[in-house]
Amino acid sequence: MSSTTTVTTTKVETPFTTGALQQDTAFWRAYIASRPAPSEDFFRVIQEHHNTHGNGQTSLAHDVGTGPGNIAERLLKYYDHVVGSDVNAQALDAAGDLIAPDLVSRLTLVRSPAETLADNNTVPPNVGLGKTDLLVVSECIPLLDVPRALNAFHQLLRPGGTLAIYFYGRPIFTTGDAVRDDRLNALYDRIATRICTFLLPFKGTPGFPHHQRAAEALASQLDNIALPSAEWGDVVRYKWNPDVPLLFNSLEGYDFEPEPVDRREKGETTKEIVDRKWWRDEWDADRVKEYLDSVYPSYVEKAGSKIAEVNEGVEELREALGGGKASVTFPVVLILASKK
Ligand SMILES: C[S@@+](CC[C@H](N)C(=O)[O-])C[C@H]1O[C@@H](n2cnc3c(N)ncnc32)[C@H](O)[C@@H]1O
Repeated sequence: MSSTTTVTTTKVETPFTTGALQQDTAFWRAYIASRPAPSEDFFRVIQEHHNTHGNGQTSLAHDVGTGPGNIAERLLKYYDHVVGSDVNAQALDAAGDLIAPDLVSRLTLVRSPAETLADNNTVPPNVGLGKTDLLVVSECIPLLDVPRALNAFHQLLRPGGTLAIYFYGRPIFTTGDAVRDDRLNALYDRIATRICTFLLPFKGTPGFPHHQRAAEALASQLDNIALPSAEWGDVVRYKWNPDVPLLFNSLEGYDFEPEPVDRREKGETTKEIVDRKWWRDEWDADRVKEYLDSVYPSYVEKAGSKIAEVNEGVEELREALGGGKASVTFPVVLILASKK
């Protein structure tokens, strides 16, 4: 009798969990350059909430999923000291390389998953449990096991400390000419959706639960994140440009259908604001391409010869942009809450 052995792959492949683990400072420098930079007004919204609903103290902030520290650096303007934590050691090394030495002296970098930040002095005690005034989760929450992570965040914050979770999605072209905008936005969506199909299959792979969790969060505009009223107060959910999906591509790019989930509690406030000048920037076709390269870090090798379709799409976009730049804004969701 003969027997056969089936070798199955158990590798979990997801962007920004496994996808960016081996990347060096050059990758993270390009990452920062390719991403939208939150406006100073955005940080003022967070501070305003912290001053009016929280304890208003500005001794210590913690930036979870800090990557190369791009947001930790911004927080140093408002806080005396900032902790930046991440699972990715290379990203933390890049933060040390990219942030100016005079600022690094006010930064503590901690390698840890968000979910275990409150365990066994993972964070040094002087900046650890019960010491954090503001805890920020920037462009990272869909990657986390949220109930476990929230439990850790609650332990890190002081009473009256503020939790700020946010996520931005695709660029929205806003030239003032509706017909032109529709065309530019459709061209972006076509390229992004095609790129997502290169990453398939998601369903049936070890990484599927991660993809499903991330897609559910974005399809839900983060309303799937429950902030139980026994632990969190003054919950405000800002949604800028909520008429545009937070997903980076259309549902046709997936091989499953993410279901929106709403776990908002009674007493929370949701503020929907259509503001096509929010985080405004001017992007050309190359800038869009850089953004896509950063959102889908490993797509080029997976695309093989089909990469030509992406290049053609980018050239079509370039032509529609007349070879130049156009204004872009973003859908952004920010959840603010105070630790009780
Ligand atoms: C898209 S980057 C965001 C970087 C930066 N916060 C920003 O706003 O640009 C996502 C980051 O989350 C980190 N990450 C992924 N899973 C994580 C986890 N379970 N705990 C902590 N960080 C995690 C990744 O290593 C990566 O640096």
